[in-house]
Amino acid sequence: KTIYLKDYQEPAFWVEHIDLTVRIFETHTDVESHLTLKKNPNIASRDLVLNGVDQDIIELALDGQPLTQSDYRRDEESLTLTCDRDDARFSSLTRIRPQDNTSLEGLYQSGSMYCTQCEAEGFRKITFYPDRPDVMATFTTRIEADQTRFPVLLANGNPVDSGELDEGRHFATWNDPFPKPSYLFAMVAGNLSRKDDTFTTRSGREVALRIFVEPQNAHKVDFALESLKKAMRWDEDTYGREYDLDLFMIVASDYFNMGAMENKGLNIFNSAAVLATPDTSNDLRFERIEAIVAHEYFHNWSGNRVTCRDWFQLSLKEGFTVFRDSEFTADMHDRAVKRIHDVVDLRAAQFPEDNGPMAHPVRPDSYIEINNFYTATVYEKGAEVVRMIHTLVGPELFRKGSDLYFERFDGQAVTTDDFVACMEEVSGRDLTQFKRWYTQAGTPRVTVTDHFDSDTGEYRLTFRQSCPPTPGQREKDSFVIPIKMGLLDADGNDLPIRTDADYNPDTQVLTLTDTETRVVFSGVNEKPIPSLLRDFSAPVRLQFDYSDEQLAFLAKNDANGFNRWDAVQQLYLRAILGMSEDERMGKNAQVPSALLDTVASIAGDTELTPAIRTAMLSLPGYAILKDAVDEIYMENLVAARKAVINAIATRYRDIWRSLTEGLAGRGDYEFTAAEAGRRSLQGLALWYWLKSGDQAAFDFAADLYHHAGNQTDRGNALRAVLAGEDHALQDELLEHFYERWQDDTQMVEQWLSMQSSAPNIGAADIENLMEHQAFDIKNPNKVRSVIAGFAMNVESFHDETGQGYELVADMIGRLNGINPQIAARLVTIFSDWKRFEPKRRAMMESTLKTILATPNLSPDVFEMTERALKG
Ligand code: ARG
Ligand code: ZN
Repeated sequence: KTIYLKDYQEPAFWVEHIDLTVRIFETHTDVESHLTLKKNPNIASRDLVLNGVDQDIIELALDGQPLTQSDYRRDEESLTLTCDRDDARFSSLTRIRPQDNTSLEGLYQSGSMYCTQCEAEGFRKITFYPDRPDVMATFTTRIEADQTRFPVLLANGNPVDSGELDEGRHFATWNDPFPKPSYLFAMVAGNLSRKDDTFTTRSGREVALRIFVEPQNAHKVDFALESLKKAMRWDEDTYGREYDLDLFMIVASDYFNMGAMENKGLNIFNSAAVLATPDTSNDLRFERIEAIVAHEYFHNWSGNRVTCRDWFQLSLKEGFTVFRDSEFTADMHDRAVKRIHDVVDLRAAQFPEDNGPMAHPVRPDSYIEINNFYTATVYEKGAEVVRMIHTLVGPELFRKGSDLYFERFDGQAVTTDDFVACMEEVSGRDLTQFKRWYTQAGTPRVTVTDHFDSDTGEYRLTFRQSCPPTPGQREKDSFVIPIKMGLLDADGNDLPIRTDADYNPDTQVLTLTDTETRVVFSGVNEKPIPSLLRDFSAPVRLQFDYSDEQLAFLAKNDANGFNRWDAVQQLYLRAILGMSEDERMGKNAQVPSALLDTVASIAGDTELTPAIRTAMLSLPGYAILKDAVDEIYMENLVAARKAVINAIATRYRDIWRSLTEGLAGRGDYEFTAAEAGRRSLQGLALWYWLKSGDQAAFDFAADLYHHAGNQTDRGNALRAVLAGEDHALQDELLEHFYERWQDDTQMVEQWLSMQSSAPNIGAADIENLMEHQAFDIKNPNKVRSVIAGFAMNVESFHDETGQGYELVADMIGRLNGINPQIAARLVTIFSDWKRFEPKRRAMMESTLKTILATPNLSPDVFEMTERALKG
């Protein structure tokens, strides 16, 4: 069933308070709930609609009167009854089976503990309730369970009571005074070890911080605690937002569909997104954990105190919160590097999404299964949209706008329009046209041409914007596009800008609003080189006809670090695509010399930080390459990319060797931007060195692997070896790794994904990996490690026999009944099928049709497969 934004209606009844008691038993769990209802005077209907699935009804009552089946109407997802009083009390007693709940939504078993995931619509698997985000209630939660098996009992808010019960059982009662939607409900029961800390807010309140993990992970929580305190401080400093409860808890769960969840006062995390030690997590993971801890914490204001009216507004909290966490990381580490990483992700995941059958607006108009809309568009493009507002109004007014937003809508469920209205109000800027970013899907293209007139000293840039059609949207109106830019003179310095156009000299931002904009710059003596879209000031595809030499010049001289990096990326992209086309035409492909010269100059440029050099020396991945061509010929792309890598590796073997040796670590592991940058450059240099085929590189890698004092170096060594041709060494190190780390879940996940994503591995190897005792189809992290890794492994995934496709389709079929949410996500692997050459296209299409024919297909998988096929 399709849900439409235009059908939104307030509910006929609000819930003021819910009193919940959850009794956990060996074979089942009983849930007793009492809702204090209040009529919504805005709605005439007297229908009380309560969502509920997968529950056995034991007893229902309205104002103490038992209800029989004839008192209500029931469909698959809900129960509707007529309620004549304005103030009423609805009670229910139902039975659920968390231990059999493999969907990991609602209350479920994760390893030895019980935990919950209620966003978006999991609460309806726990009890009957108006499970929609505009219904905000205070919660009291009492949990009863066996004392030995579940000594720790947690829920949102503050602990108010606890004690012993008969038969070795005990209880704990929690009260959350802040009204919240049901998707923010959480509870946990388990045998967990706990680490405490405190944080003093700037107004002097002491907040207790607690992390709960299964005992074997007790040594892995320190980094997350430190990250949490940094995030709490940052939100006070940057947004003036303080924490509100006296207690903030984090729980780590091994079985979790997503990264983490911002439940009020009780965040629940995927173990992989919170547990870390230098010995078991690499630098990327540390950065990710810090960002996710911050992200979930930031939701306390952007999401919890001010929440979403309906799920079409998901980006209200997610786009804004991703923007917040990304600025946090930029402030904690290196701003340019963070921007580069975000743009790589955007181009690798969101641009392709916007460029295919799954394209949808940041604020979608309709959905079948809301879980399918936790996408790169809603999250990452949503964050870019907020970033553009920040760019357009400037940091001070943006802060004023966010203050107004939090103040005005505290305790309410609102819309993206409400957010933008605050920004309009404080800035006096009309953002009506800007809001097309929320409603129109697709990545705008901006084509720029220039003209220089030496007689008049005028330089002219003409910007033309367009946006390709996307499903359900053929025509697009023009967007407001902030273009941060400068003009470089022959020495590479920025010229002073003189223009009548809408250009802000303080921020260097030119704002486009029309389909075509001509901008005249006066007082220009020589033809400049434009540096456009600095810091990636808008999520667009900008195209300017640079020569290779100009790109090399920008890469060397641009004052904007991001654009230096981007100029090199364009060189790589152009070279690989050109060579791929040559391959396809049977021509002899040559690596352009401008590219090779640039590589050498970057590698030797010690003025650049190692982290920036790593980014500049990393080639665009296949997701970006595929997205850049009209028709995908995978073999040719692979051949071209490999040829570029080989040329870089062999031509500069000595550089890679001396970088690898010169960047060796000294002293203990430290997670700082500088140290992480050093390790990343060493890792990349080692990888190129090894690709050159030098035996000394293999020896170095084996030695680094065995003597590494941290997982970053160890992983870099292993990844390099897996990319090479020494199969005996590969087997030896993989075996050693598993022997040594088989009891560490996070390490086993890395062991799986390093193999599945290694070149040389085929579909048959993946089958074997899934037979291994380390694999568990019910565990999303394990499934992702193997399947998502394999899908990125383009050579075997797109193997011409079609085995790779079959393998993934088979997995989707198996997961459909186990965990539909994860199964549906895997369907996106096929979503660019129409862009492939005829042979792969046909194979992928028939694979999708096979999936669609799966018996008992879940709505989740159905929606994604149908969208993929329809395009
Ligand atoms: N709100 C969580 C976060 O972004 C993600 C929850 C995702 N849940 C889902 N059912 N897709 O931090
Ligand atoms: Zn979020």
